[in-house]
Amino acid sequence: MHVRSIRSLSASDADAVIVGMFPGRRGGPGAATVLKGMGPWARKALETAKFDGDSGQVAVLPSTNPDLPAQVVFVGLGADVDLECLRQAAGRAMRALPEKARTVATTLHRMELDGAAQAVLEGLALGDYRFDRYRSSFPVREELSVEVLGGANQEVEAAALAAGIIAEAVGLARDLVNESPSRKAPLEVAERIAAAAGEAGVAHEVWSGGRLVEEKMTGLLAVGGGSHRPPCLVRLEYRPRRPKATIYLVGKGIVFDSGGLSLKSADFMETMKSDMAGAAAVAAAVIAIARLGLRVGVVGLAAMAENLPGGGAQRPGDVLAYRNGKTVEVLNTDAEGRLVMADALCLAAEAEPDLIVDLATLTGANKVGLGPKIAGLFGNDEEAIARVKAAADAAGERTWPMPMPKDYFSLIESSVADMKNTITGRYGGAQGAALLLAEFAGEGPWVHVDMAGPAFVDKAEHYIPRGGTGFGVRTLVELAAGMG
Ligand code: BES
Ligand code: ZN
Ligand code: ZN
Repeated sequence: MHVRSIRSLSASDADAVIVGMFPGRRGGPGAATVLKGMGPWARKALETAKFDGDSGQVAVLPSTNPDLPAQVVFVGLGADVDLECLRQAAGRAMRALPEKARTVATTLHRMELDGAAQAVLEGLALGDYRFDRYRSSFPVREELSVEVLGGANQEVEAAALAAGIIAEAVGLARDLVNESPSRKAPLEVAERIAAAAGEAGVAHEVWSGGRLVEEKMTGLLAVGGGSHRPPCLVRLEYRPRRPKATIYLVGKGIVFDSGGLSLKSADFMETMKSDMAGAAAVAAAVIAIARLGLRVGVVGLAAMAENLPGGGAQRPGDVLAYRNGKTVEVLNTDAEGRLVMADALCLAAEAEPDLIVDLATLTGANKVGLGPKIAGLFGNDEEAIARVKAAADAAGERTWPMPMPKDYFSLIESSVADMKNTITGRYGGAQGAALLLAEFAGEGPWVHVDMAGPAFVDKAEHYIPRGGTGFGVRTLVELAAGMG
């Protein structure tokens, strides 16, 4: 995204201008000039289109005035405008524009809100995302150019830099999730992550084969055994000068979850290329945090494997002995996420960081509990959970704290090992999974984000396109920003 600040629309060469409106068709910042330039018919046209200025509404009108861009996008802001509302309005406007509009002007950032410019630019860039690599009919798209009308230069520059870094990171996470699973073997994903990390000056290491055996990465080896494409662990590290804290970020990276021998049915398998969304978000967040130069040390661990029922697959009944001495009985090979997360959590816990946050598309049960758009928060430290919740709120990512009562451990008691990877009965699936992870996360503050719902959506909304959403990236960046 290229951003420049311009004084007035007469200096613009934009294809479209985005204008905010309040309920009752009251003009938002900068709307008066545009409406006047369009003539009285514009208000009539908005009325006919039933556009009131409520949040969620958008109307694209042509303009015949040569002093205005050819298209005007009116976007409703609603009555109480906050940063997320601006982000959504910008994204919605962007998605309403025809593909070929590559230069857009806007006055949306002129709302009296701290951080308005960054929120608007984030919304535009996030809403501009397309995954069209596999569409033969799509032309190559030029980079998006944004003209910010009458903004203070320095502020706009800083906002553009931050928004650009964040949107690129979210775009990377979305690309990794949307990629055809045939083209994202664990080691291929690791390579792509390593390349992006290298560009951002982030140290990276990939463990595979013998190294995984030496390091006792039991879950990765067991889950990955069913696929010809071997598992790996990606370690990213960003260490600024004099860090104020160190965070470990752990992500579930199942490049495809067929369920393994406990095979999923066809409809549940359809979206299972998204089962590496936690790993993608963690990798993208470390890169963004490094590029932003935040003052926190961050280590990202991505546990990558493919869950297939090949000849080397693990069996229901297998017992896994972990690096931290604990054992898990595998009763359902489709509950593989917790098995690979346990390995990476052992490594994180050994480092005794100030905070561990893990992101995983872990359980269908969490999606049942909170619906498709909200991630569940679990953990061993109320303050840490509240911190992650606050970061997510600020980023506009929806999360909700979930209970994880100790006595529910009985749900995962095994007759042969320390625990089993399934639950007894039907209820408490997300809690059972989280309680298993807790056994590997150590004693320090740890937060588990179950993002099975919001990682992948089948309907586009405001700045979120269909498919991989990049969920978690912005929460993690916000969290690091708050700690550094
Ligand atoms: N990857 C799935 C969880 C999931 C479900 C993610 C829907 C995104 C959307 C996970 O590995 C899984 O299959 N979990 C099972 C566990 C069960 C077999 C104990 C589940 O939640 O049904
Ligand atoms: Zn599974
Ligand atoms: Zn899974």
